[in-house]
Amino acid sequence: MKDEPLVLGIESTAHTFGVGVATPSRVLASADYSYQPKSGGIHPREAAEHHSRVAGRALAEALREAGVSVEDVDAVAVALGPGMGPCLRVGATLARYLAVRYAKPLVPVNHAVAHVEIARFTTGFEDPLVVYIAGGNTIITTFVEGRYRVFGETLDIPLGNCLDTFAREVGLGFPGTPKVEELAAKGSKLLELPYVVKGQDLQFSGLLTKALRLVREGERLEDVCYSLVETAYSMLVEVAERALALTGKREVTLTGGVARSRLLCEKLEKMAELHGAVFKPVEPRFAGDNGAMIAYTGALAYASGVTIRVEDSRIRPMWRLDQVDVPWRAGGFRKP
Ligand SMILES: Nc1ncnc2c1ncn2[C@@H]1O[C@H](COP(=O)(O)OP(=O)(O)OP(=O)(O)O)[C@@H](O)[C@H]1O
Ligand SMILES: [Mg+2]
Repeated sequence: MKDEPLVLGIESTAHTFGVGVATPSRVLASADYSYQPKSGGIHPREAAEHHSRVAGRALAEALREAGVSVEDVDAVAVALGPGMGPCLRVGATLARYLAVRYAKPLVPVNHAVAHVEIARFTTGFEDPLVVYIAGGNTIITTFVEGRYRVFGETLDIPLGNCLDTFAREVGLGFPGTPKVEELAAKGSKLLELPYVVKGQDLQFSGLLTKALRLVREGERLEDVCYSLVETAYSMLVEVAERALALTGKREVTLTGGVARSRLLCEKLEKMAELHGAVFKPVEPRFAGDNGAMIAYTGALAYASGVTIRVEDSRIRPMWRLDQVDVPWRAGGFRKP
């Protein structure tokens, strides 16, 4: 057991500041605090101030929950990107401090890869097609030759952001996705909205603009919500289906904040069944941003020798998941 590394992980890419503790086979703790904008979308500086305020509390809580001290951990992992610069700096600064103060190796983690790995962990899937839908990302990905490759993504705004912005503009509040879905369940008229699939890629901003215009023109909000989710989710399922047919994977998972959507889960499950594949979403408590997924992915990475020097650990706001080598899957270390 003790040859398994124990890793502390820090998440601060966007609205959530989280600290987790994990090994490559176990999640021991996750203490997560989310910033709620008073109005409008996330204000990066305000979110960063929130993160600075809660960082000490999250760290103490995670260590207490795991029953360990900083001295006990083998490495400190941190999400260096992708995300918002001011937010990323708070997590990176705390991680560098802990690494230097306690002489621990520092492990760089890509936030998108962490959403994928925590989905594999909580579903028990070995090699799934991963649909990653959140406020900042919309990506269809799967593991091919050493990396998570992208088999479709948004070319403009992410799906979660489209639904959150729509909800905010029509006064439904945050998080928008469940609120839009709740009204959609009471809608019946399918209004025509831009269905934009370009090859394997997607665009949602035209859909958002047109949906908002229909509300202004007096269409029932329930019908607009119904048409919005039906159109957006159909676009996504179309692309996921082609990716599944192309890659021939036998498992499909949904991860990221929007993985808590029952409606999207149902649609993906039906599609997977048609192809003889099994569908299961990430465990809901690890769907949104959290410290545990960074600690867990950090533990996998550290066990295959991934570390970074403190002086090289600059934040990477635009870091794509297909730029990350994944040695823990490419061979060597295997999940027990
Ligand atoms: N119960 C729910 N059902 C469906 N979607 C939800 C639910 N709760 C939150 N969401 C959606 O989750 C999204 C946020 O996801 P997440 O917490 O992963 O954060 P993010 O930082 O915005 O994403 P990213 O991983 O792209 O950086 C929002 O779009 C929100 O509407
Ligand atoms: Mg996220």
